[in-house]
Amino acid sequence: MVNLDKYSSIFIANWKLNGNSSFLKDYYEKLKVNSNNCTIICSPSIYLKSLKRNNESLFCGAQDVSSYKEGAYTGELSASMLRDNNIDFCLVGHSERRQYFAETNDNVNIKSSNLIEENIIPVICIGETLEQKENNLTEQILSTQIKDGIPSSANHQNALIAYEPVWAIGTGLTPTLDEINQVHELIKHFDTKFRNFKVLYGGSVKSSNSKEINDLNHVDGCLIGGASLKVDEFNIIIS
Ligand code: PGA
Repeated sequence: MVNLDKYSSIFIANWKLNGNSSFLKDYYEKLKVNSNNCTIICSPSIYLKSLKRNNESLFCGAQDVSSYKEGAYTGELSASMLRDNNIDFCLVGHSERRQYFAETNDNVNIKSSNLIEENIIPVICIGETLEQKENNLTEQILSTQIKDGIPSSANHQNALIAYEPVWAIGTGLTPTLDEINQVHELIKHFDTKFRNFKVLYGGSVKSSNSKEINDLNHVDGCLIGGASLKVDEFNIIIS
């Protein structure tokens, strides 16, 4: 399992359903990894093996994994298959999975547990919708997502949490810096067990705001969607 303590910050590119062979070739030629930080590229699964790990701080991450370990589940990829292909990280419970694929906290829990068994670090995504935020439900929602979604086997060395307010994803909107820091502090204090967890922020991170977000004392890195598709922009973020 990757030693997370080695890195000052963790940056994850979430390409979602984007990319093709020529995009990948150009991207990987131009990508400039800073060895002090852990950089993880979550490409679509079929391209995971194209990443040339020419820097020991550069890793592959899957965007999802099956809840099942094996069997008659057409279209699925298991945690052991990811391990067999040297995949070290996997996003779990991204809000798009929850919204479009009806993923529940129970699914997130099972997937994360299966990944940990295979020495793959789950990046467990949590976050509130705008409606929930406006109704002052953020704390309650995050607490349920954490309590139900994070398996008992998870600890600060084998799992990561990503706080991604749903209303900030792909919208250009972000919480204020104070809000981000406060929510991250809250997450780390839901239970003593989470005190040392690394918590990443995601939602409209770009080169113009990544430094100030990542510099917050309770933020341990960023999960980047749209801006990670532009390699020059991503290079600035991870530099
Ligand atoms: P965004 O996406 O950076 O485009 O807001 C983040 C994510 O969905 O992980």
